Amino acid sequence: MQSFFKLAAVIFTAGIATTFGAATAEYADVVLNHNAEASGERPVIFPHWFHRIRFRCKVCHHELAFEMRAGANEVTMNDLQEGKFCGMCHDGQIAWGLENCGLCHSGRPGLKPGIIGDHKTLGPGRW
Ligand code: HEC
Ligand code: HEC
Ligand code: HEC
Repeated sequence: MQSFFKLAAVIFTAGIATTFGAATAEYADVVLNHNAEASGERPVIFPHWFHRIRFRCKVCHHELAFEMRAGANEVTMNDLQEGKFCGMCHDGQIAWGLENCGLCHSGRPGLKPGIIGDHKTLGPGRW
């Protein structure tokens, strides 16, 4: 079942990217930093737009149960290792795997959870 969802997500991706690729970059990047910095890691930068043009909203906000409010989700590495949240895709198959700590933990120290960058999306390592 899990792999069916993965496959469905990937197939849908191709269509969405070409159809809506030119729309405006709403929601920019999201900072996730409930526990990361307190545990000695840099804050996580999640490029929302980058993902929105590749996947349907439903994949994350329904199937993965990411609440649609910046800062609302309490995510842990254990969850990700069990294939939840970011871990559904960042498993070394659909997208690069969890061993690439710095690609997610790329924020400057001190960033608060929430939206960053207005309508700009800069991706990892720029904030
Ligand atoms: C790959 C996963 C993913 C996809 C696809 C996705 N989102 Fe999100 N979205 C997130 C995450 C993660 C957050 C931040 C949650 C947090 O900070 O706890 C978020 C946050 C949001 C927010 C909150 C913004 C705010 O100001 O608080 C809205 C609204 C939202 N998404 C709408 C959408 C819509 C509409 C789509 C489809 C066009 C979409 N999302 C697709 C993962 C995704
Ligand atoms: C695909 C993205 C991603 C990757 C790759 C990743 N993390 Fe995380 N990590 C997160 C998210 C999201 C959180 C929750 C952020 C928050 O709200 O504090 C988190 C939280 C953490 C935390 C806080 C405590 C906990 O256990 O949840 C630590 C420590 C951590 N990560 C270490 C690592 C290390 C070490 C690596 C590499 C081996 C890594 N992370 C790779 C996304 C990632
Ligand atoms: C529905 C699948 C999916 C989910 C869920 C998901 N990602 Fe991704 N993510 C991808 C794909 C696919 C790529 C592109 C991978 C590639 O280029 O090889 C990507 C790329 C990225 C990038 C690199 C963006 C760039 O500019 O190159 C970052 C950073 C990232 N994800 C962080 C996260 C974090 C943090 C989460 C959880 C909050 C998350 N992702 C959840 C599928 C997902």
